[in-house]
Amino acid sequence: MSNATKEVVLETKGITKRFPGVLANDRVDLTLHKGEILALLGENGAGKSTLMNMIYGLYHPDEGDIWVKGEHVRLQGPRDAINRGIGMVHQHFQLVPVMTVAENVILGEEVTSGGRLDMRAAQRQVQALSQKYGLAVDATAVIEDLPVGTQQRVEIIKALYRNADILILDEPTAVLTPQEANELFRIMRDLTAQGVSIIFITHKLKEVLAVADNIGVLRRGQMVGTADPETATEASLAELMVGRKVLLRVEKSDAKPGQTVLEIRDLQVKDDRGQMAVAGASLEVRAGEILGVAGVQGNGQREMVEALTGLRPVESGQIFVNGRESARFSPRQVTEAGVAHIPEDREKHGLVAAYSIADNMVLNRYYQRPFANGLALNREAINENSQRLVEEYDVRTPGITTHARSLSGGNKQKVIVAREFSRPVKLLIANQPTRGIDVGSIEFIHKQIVTQRDRGVAVLLISAELDEVLSLSDRVAVMFDGRIVKTLPIAEATRERVGLLMAGSDQ
Ligand SMILES: Nc1ncnc2c1ncn2[C@@H]1O[C@H](COP(=O)(O)OP(=O)(O)OP(=O)(O)O)[C@@H](O)[C@H]1O
Ligand SMILES: [Mg+2]
Repeated sequence: MSNATKEVVLETKGITKRFPGVLANDRVDLTLHKGEILALLGENGAGKSTLMNMIYGLYHPDEGDIWVKGEHVRLQGPRDAINRGIGMVHQHFQLVPVMTVAENVILGEEVTSGGRLDMRAAQRQVQALSQKYGLAVDATAVIEDLPVGTQQRVEIIKALYRNADILILDEPTAVLTPQEANELFRIMRDLTAQGVSIIFITHKLKEVLAVADNIGVLRRGQMVGTADPETATEASLAELMVGRKVLLRVEKSDAKPGQTVLEIRDLQVKDDRGQMAVAGASLEVRAGEILGVAGVQGNGQREMVEALTGLRPVESGQIFVNGRESARFSPRQVTEAGVAHIPEDREKHGLVAAYSIADNMVLNRYYQRPFANGLALNREAINENSQRLVEEYDVRTPGITTHARSLSGGNKQKVIVAREFSRPVKLLIANQPTRGIDVGSIEFIHKQIVTQRDRGVAVLLISAELDEVLSLSDRVAVMFDGRIVKTLPIAEATRERVGLLMAGSDQ
């Protein structure tokens, strides 16, 4: 059925939203048809989340109009949006970790029987919804015990429980494994087949081409165009988003490895639940090379990185940085030993939300020259450093005094990357360095990683994106079940071979 004959379920016209110093949305028109998946693309800071937050009633537009199922609305808040059938799954889940699936789903919407909470009835309803839409989940499970992909299903069930038939998914695949992402796409198709309409935000162009019925592109707050997934390519979408051609591959020469900078021997590290997540891992990274760790998330990568950076205790085994035993180092000692770290969880370990961009840019060096002279901070040097990095890394912000909290997701990540890349270091540990980053900025960050390598920095890259590992690494280490099961030179690391090793087959 062509769009012309499909019912319009959501429409915005001339939506404008300003924040101090920023025109976040500039007269945006958007149309969503019944049963369609509309992908919304755009660079970091283009205004995607802002637009969605207005449709969900969290922000009010300064100008413009919204129609929901033909009715002109002025949404009073999320409750109002929910009552009109709009549901939103935010990138940072809003579930209560210690409560069960059923408890989370009914939170704020409790089923009562004679004034008491009827948990049985709630569980039955959750079960019914999960069956109807193929959202496999155990209603009695406790949230913190579930993998991320399942937690996300709970968020979707929560929206459906409130009768959502317009679903907003803001970067739902950023934290999913490729398997979990494919499962989500199947669920999305099941939902649209039953009349649900979906707005889907992602930076992964392959995903857009695989699932979208329609594509809208925002650039600097304006809707600059739409594209047809039948005829669009990754390159054409990238160009439409960024406004220039983007190199989707990494260009680099062969590595010239020097001395060993990082050595890990038989490392054992426990996870939060006391299980041995890293169970005897060994690897080494030499100066001037990129060692990429490939693996399905949850095979000990996170715990290994946290142990390397002093954020998690080591049970046994050894870590050497430049020949110095550093397994018992604090995070500050690790930093001072010449190690840079791009953390997986930027909200938790990367930034201080209430600090300015300028202060975040010197977070681990503010007490050193030139940023401090003895006890006095040198504001001028701190500001000059930050101004330069904001320009170089294209951080979209009104200024360097803006708080990290008000940056868009991808721009937060850029601040961390800029800070960690601008220190003179021996070892760079990059965990999911481009998560949530737009294609144009990925190109830039990849170039920076190669530049660091060519300057003689040892790079340990951990990424859930196999494409990223294969295109950047000089050697590939495959992590499975807490161990490095194989290390291959890049020439031997074919997709198939690495994929089999990641699945636990000992090739
Ligand atoms: N609460 C806020 N206060 C001030 N500025 C904000 C706020 N929310 C968003 N902005 C600004 O509005 C602009 C658009 O941000 P938005 O979060 O919508 O971008 P986005 O397209 O979702 O980007 P990303 O891909 O990085 O998530 C950015 O310049 C951002 O800094
Ligand atoms: Mg966003």
